[in-house]
Amino acid sequence: MTQCLPTFASLVAAAAILFAACSPASHETPRRTRAPFGTVDGKEVFLYTLRNRSGMEARITNYGGIVVSLLVPDKAGTPGDVVLGYDSLSSYLKATPYFGAIVGRYGNRIGKARFTLDGKEYVLNANDGPNTLHGGARGFDKVVWEADETTPATEPSLSLSYLSRDGEEGYPGALRAAVVYTLTDSNELRIDYAATTDRPTVLNLTHHSYFNLAGAGSGDILSHELMLNADRFTPIDSGLITTGELRSVEGTPMDFRVPTAIGVRIGASDEQLRFGRGYDHNWVLNRTGAGLSLAARVFERTSGRAIEVWTTPGIQFYSGNFLDGTNVGKGGKAYAYRTGLCLETQHFPDSPNKPSFPSTVLRPGEKFASTTVYKFSTR
Ligand code: BGC
Repeated sequence: MTQCLPTFASLVAAAAILFAACSPASHETPRRTRAPFGTVDGKEVFLYTLRNRSGMEARITNYGGIVVSLLVPDKAGTPGDVVLGYDSLSSYLKATPYFGAIVGRYGNRIGKARFTLDGKEYVLNANDGPNTLHGGARGFDKVVWEADETTPATEPSLSLSYLSRDGEEGYPGALRAAVVYTLTDSNELRIDYAATTDRPTVLNLTHHSYFNLAGAGSGDILSHELMLNADRFTPIDSGLITTGELRSVEGTPMDFRVPTAIGVRIGASDEQLRFGRGYDHNWVLNRTGAGLSLAARVFERTSGRAIEVWTTPGIQFYSGNFLDGTNVGKGGKAYAYRTGLCLETQHFPDSPNKPSFPSTVLRPGEKFASTTVYKFSTR
């Protein structure tokens, strides 16, 4: 009889086997899990899921640092996906208007795809007519980032890094870029950017989620109410290149200092709206000292969801004017005209050719750092 009873040692061994089987793999914690998402250039690509303790969940891939989905509770507590994107990696590889991606080296346009730095002209890869857009033909949105899975996930976070070689897309200097996504328990998606270079270069990193607070694929964003904390914006020419002027928003459809539905003035007869085909402009933020300041607020009435954007640099508000229904996204939903809005925190577009704009030059020995927080709430 006695040999049928398990010994203490065998119980300990069985418990150890059971624990090993139930506990997540070493790169995982309950707040950050990982699943295969495919391969690019022979490199493995993963889909990481970050979960906070307040009902939010972000799925992020190390291909392009793309936020694939972002579940946010509505006013009834029901989670909904508030960013446009695709279900599969192959769809991202086929065609994407930068859905959810990290954009670099230089967010937005550099006119005529060239700039001069320290007396030397650099010619970039033109991918938007004569201009370069969002880093060129293969910007940071189209490369595989290295995920550091050793970061202790006290908060659900994902650290990504990418080494951009000297001359990539025409930009000088080997640039090491790092991006950390953190989903905080106070329902913030925080993005910390850092970079260093071995030769003088220019840099403008941003994030390109298309938000729809009523839920991705549920209609246009024209009734979303927007507040932009800016007295001035940077006007553009017909090729969407900044002119160098900082213009007052007073008395124009660019004035979002008081929360206003995006659709109210988007069709106004206004040269800037005509050039942008809607809103596709950079606003000069009213700063309240160093550190993070409030850049924007968005509120969507039916869901009760709201976002606040806190950041260090400027902000580009793009009303999804180039979406035309050809991108069929998650759950087979086609993303029609103006069904997502982007709030891209960044330096002013074409700064390398606009000496009066704040500098975007990064030199060896310097460390670039910037932070953006998208804070979600309901009312
Ligand atoms: C730009 C638009 C551009 C879009 C690409 C935005 O950041 O401001 O002009 O068409 O990205 O999808």
